Amino acid sequence: MFYFDSHCHLNDEAILPFIEEEILSCRQAGLKAMLVIGYDVKSSRLAVELAHRYEEVYAAVGVHPENLEGLTLDCLKEIKALAKEDKVVAIGEIGLDYHWYKDPEVREAQKPWFVAQIELANELNLPVSIHARDCTEDVYKILKEHPVHAGAVLHCYSGSVESLREFAKLGLYFGFDGPITFKNAVTPKECVKACPIDRLLVETDSPYLAPVPFRGKQNSPKYIPFIVEEMAKLREMEPETLNEQLWRNFTKLFRVKHG
Ligand code: NI
Repeated sequence: MFYFDSHCHLNDEAILPFIEEEILSCRQAGLKAMLVIGYDVKSSRLAVELAHRYEEVYAAVGVHPENLEGLTLDCLKEIKALAKEDKVVAIGEIGLDYHWYKDPEVREAQKPWFVAQIELANELNLPVSIHARDCTEDVYKILKEHPVHAGAVLHCYSGSVESLREFAKLGLYFGFDGPITFKNAVTPKECVKACPIDRLLVETDSPYLAPVPFRGKQNSPKYIPFIVEEMAKLREMEPETLNEQLWRNFTKLFRVKHG
């Protein structure tokens, strides 16, 4: 059985100094594909570099809503240039964050970035990886007004089952991470159960959100089997069968050819 990670940050400073070791241990754990996601220009460039260096790595490039301070939309020119590089399979992560940002003006200022990067994805015919925290209504509204033609995933889905059903009608995919293994994570578990089987994605978001039994430690794509196993339990499926379905979903959305 082989594994893959549809959302990780091997471009994070916590991992980069040990990247050779990290890639090696991921290979040993059976990882065949890892989608490394950018969150600003620098991390997007690093994601592309890692994709060029390691066969298993693919890249997404984009500017995250938490990293907008001091930037102008002009920097999306650089994101566009990076998006045309080999093995770049998505724009991301992009979106809205109302969890850390309460000021209505700051929230409002995130929107043009989200829309501009959706437009960039549509121009390049790429799917998008979306970060959305405590902003369900606004993300829904933007996606409804600006559909992503090549598909989109709500990464680390943290909304309700009801919202999941509404987003599913827009054709969205849903990424689930370590928190589904937490005992008290009632809603995420319900969402895994309620998600259409052909829209489920598995991801680590490493170095964050390590699954049980590594909760609180630095996360790694090599822990993906723990998340797949919990997902399979929730879906009452064999892990192998579920994993095959997850791989089909992943390759369909991101058009990753080998692995
Ligand atoms: Ni992330």
